Amino acid sequence: MSESTRNKLSDMELVTQHLVQPDDLNYHNNLFGGKMLSWIDEGMAMFVMTKIRYTNIVTISMDNVVFRSPARAGDIIQIYGKIMKYGKSSVTSKTLAVTNNPQTQKISEVIESEITYVCLGENGKPFAYFRNFNPPI
Ligand SMILES: CC(C)(COP(=O)(O)OP(=O)(O)OC[C@H]1O[C@@H](n2cnc3c(N)ncnc32)[C@H](O)[C@@H]1OP(=O)(O)O)[C@@H](O)C(=O)NCCC(=O)NCCS
Repeated sequence: MSESTRNKLSDMELVTQHLVQPDDLNYHNNLFGGKMLSWIDEGMAMFVMTKIRYTNIVTISMDNVVFRSPARAGDIIQIYGKIMKYGKSSVTSKTLAVTNNPQTQKISEVIESEITYVCLGENGKPFAYFRNFNPPI
């Protein structure tokens, strides 16, 4: 693992893992980017719900998405994340997904992104949940 990857992961938590299967590949035989985006969006949504103890959230943006290297069938994808900031109704997270080869211990960055979720009220409109929320330490 490079020094840069080690630094990025140092304050992140493991969110979820996936094994890349043949059905997840594109016609180059690499992991399809849309599949990777759906894994990070879903994984980070559950991570955020758990951290904030509120489940009525929607994704409003995925920013600074960078595909760093391809993943292949049989690779273990580990998705790491952290909360970056709270707004009034929104919460922005940072995610980095890597391949982690348990045999060689090689870790390679696959994708990174910042994902923002918005808390909705019962009316389906943004709800300023974080006015009364004390983030966990
Ligand atoms: C989420 C949604 C209800 C927000 O409605 P809206 O009227 O645009 O909301 P607002 O302009 O009041 O902004 C709400 C919050 O989002 C933030 N926001 C708006 N646009 C944003 C963007 N491009 N990136 C990051 N945050 C953004 C605002 O800063 C605000 O945050 P704050 O309350 O913490 O200050 C609406 O855009 C929506 O329904 N989008 C579709 C969501 C969806 O279907 N996602 C995919 C499936 S989960």
